[in-house]
Amino acid sequence: MRQLIYLLIGLILFIACFPIEEKKLSDKSAMIELGHFLFFDKDLSWDRSKSCASCHDPQLGFVDGYKRALNGNAEVLLRNTSSTLNMQNRTIFGWSNPSISSLEKQMERPLFATHPVEMGLKGKEGEIVKRIMQKEQYASLYQKAFSVDIKQLEFQEIVDCIVSYEFKLQSRNSKYDQFSKSRDTGILSVSERNGMNLFFSASLSCSACHGGLDFDRAASGDQFANTGLYNCDNSYPIADLGLQSHTGNKDDNGKFRIPSLRNVMITSPYYHDGSESNLERVIENYERRGRNNKSLDCFGDGALHPSIDHRLKSFTLSYDERKDLIAFLNILTDTSYLNQYFFNDPFNWNSL
Ligand code: HEC
Ligand code: HEC
Repeated sequence: MRQLIYLLIGLILFIACFPIEEKKLSDKSAMIELGHFLFFDKDLSWDRSKSCASCHDPQLGFVDGYKRALNGNAEVLLRNTSSTLNMQNRTIFGWSNPSISSLEKQMERPLFATHPVEMGLKGKEGEIVKRIMQKEQYASLYQKAFSVDIKQLEFQEIVDCIVSYEFKLQSRNSKYDQFSKSRDTGILSVSERNGMNLFFSASLSCSACHGGLDFDRAASGDQFANTGLYNCDNSYPIADLGLQSHTGNKDDNGKFRIPSLRNVMITSPYYHDGSESNLERVIENYERRGRNNKSLDCFGDGALHPSIDHRLKSFTLSYDERKDLIAFLNILTDTSYLNQYFFNDPFNWNSL
């Protein structure tokens, strides 16, 4: 009996010394709402110059229209901005790093990158938390999201809320989606239908790589591909070797992740470095199974690059067929989201 009492006292003391950490409750829809504000908040960059939405602009299909993104000092970043729409089924984010497999991990790049700086928050997390804490918009939203006072805000929660918001950025209401649901070919013009048949044909084999719901999933094989855009002495330009810079494998030279083709009509310029500004040129590059590069810093025929992807076919289109293929790409456009508060800048919603 006495032993039992000692044991009980011991247990009580133990619990008193190591209280089970009180976990904050979280309300998912309030977190999403909070993430919505944070995504559009320039105060999330150190010099208050850029929000996520500065580069991922709803008006432009959540990209920025630049060849390669610009930071707050107008320094050019390595890559062309990709869209944050329709991330739900994705397992790899960004153009070429296979280890970025979650949105949380992806966000480290804009928040903390230093070469060059994007939002410039490396080592400044604590100060940003204070900054956000002091803004009037956030107090009640935070209370709603985590059931505690905003004084308890942690940096990780900022990341979690933005991720919750990003996951909801879904826009799959294009003319093509309407056709897919109804299977009613009557809603497509003759040109759009011809273009669709070309896109899915074995001779063009676009869908061998641009497959799945979002046209970013290869039917088989690698999710990264070298499409023959460069060949400077058997290599892509040294500044950006694509997958090779992460794996160290020479065979991965010039391989980039297959991008989604949703909204491609409004997300020019194209490719990982924004090096093509119209779709006619992109299609011509596919026709000859690579791009003949005449720029002086990288002179050479991409079609002869040793790692060119074997899923690419060479083909020749007539003028009309090329137009048809573009007409098909055009029906992947969906900007109906622009009418919705959720997809727009919440700080300026009333004035829009
Ligand atoms: C200065 C411009 C800039 C800012 C600011 C920025 N991004 Fe990006 N974003 C880019 C670029 C460029 C890429 C492509 C990066 C790469 O793959 O090399 C990208 C890629 C992404 C992707 C991957 C999309 C895909 O198709 O895989 C996501 C998700 C994303 N950004 C979210 C965010 C979030 C969230 C923020 C704010 C915390 C943010 N970005 C801020 C330029 C920016
Ligand atoms: C071997 C796989 C593969 C095949 C086949 C393929 N693509 Fe691509 N596509 C890619 C990759 C990878 C990129 C990105 C290349 C880069 O930036 O270096 C891309 C980029 C694009 C882009 C630019 C998208 C953007 O946002 O930058 C368009 C448009 C496009 N492809 C259309 C097509 C069409 C049309 C076909 C059929 C004629 C096709 N693709 C066949 C892999 C493929």
